[in-house]
Amino acid sequence: MNKVIAIANQKGGVGKTTTAINLAASLAATKRKTLLIDLDPQGNATTAAGIQPEKIKTLYAHYFEKAAVKECIQTSPDNYDVIPSGEDLIALEVAIRNDGNQGFLSSSLKPFEDFYDYTIIDTPPTLNQLTIEALFCASGTLIPLQCEYYSLEGITGLMKTIETLSSKNMTSNRVLGIVRTMVDMRNNLAKEVSDELEKHFPSLIFNTLIPRNVKLAEAPSHGISGIKYMPNSYGAKAYLALAGELIRRIEYV
Ligand SMILES: Nc1ncnc2c1ncn2[C@@H]1O[C@H](COP(=O)(O)OP(=O)(O)OP(=O)(O)O)[C@@H](O)[C@H]1O
Ligand SMILES: [Mg+2]
Repeated sequence: MNKVIAIANQKGGVGKTTTAINLAASLAATKRKTLLIDLDPQGNATTAAGIQPEKIKTLYAHYFEKAAVKECIQTSPDNYDVIPSGEDLIALEVAIRNDGNQGFLSSSLKPFEDFYDYTIIDTPPTLNQLTIEALFCASGTLIPLQCEYYSLEGITGLMKTIETLSSKNMTSNRVLGIVRTMVDMRNNLAKEVSDELEKHFPSLIFNTLIPRNVKLAEAPSHGISGIKYMPNSYGAKAYLALAGELIRRIEYV
């Protein structure tokens, strides 16, 4: 059964794409059949996954030109599949909203229910219809968070939206956990915020801390994950550990 996980936080630059890419690569490294869906028109996950933006069909083609979802799927050098994104997803977002077609992504993924073990969805830094589509079809949401003063305020809206969707029985989505990203424990404020998070969300916080590590930032320019680029780096090891923790949370319950 395909476990669909949305990576979301409406705050920009918190490590959503880096988490999506490296989790997909880590899950693929454990021989779990994995699909990464880039739902951000910025297309960062697409290029970081090593997909050439010139050669792709996005979900725009599926929605407007009746292309099969299969025609959109590419394979990354890290051995996971990718449904890429591009700027045309901006028009897709408007169309889904105007057509009242909520749940479009969910129905598009139905044929793949038994094919993938995991589907990871990277979302844009806003709570727009594309993010809602991801939340709607995911069974769990993972929230990357930077340990900064305002970081908590940004996620309350997201958590409320997930609660509202679930309470109306529109989705079985729940917050799987909060991942602390770009952590530098030499920074006192980061340490304070990190401690606060552990106090407030003891069951939600992932134990694995993702350190600030330049190898994770360099890897996308090579079109590969940090796991493949520098397997022994702290960043790569942290994402492999995070994948292990995620698997334990999801599969061993
Ligand atoms: N652990 C890390 N160590 C060092 N650099 C990182 C780390 N995580 C992310 N970065 C860098 O920080 C920047 C923002 O990360 P990323 O693109 O993953 O965030 P995002 O939440 O997807 O951003 P957006 O909201 O724009 O989609 C990128 O340049 C990325 O390479
Ligand atoms: Mg991103």
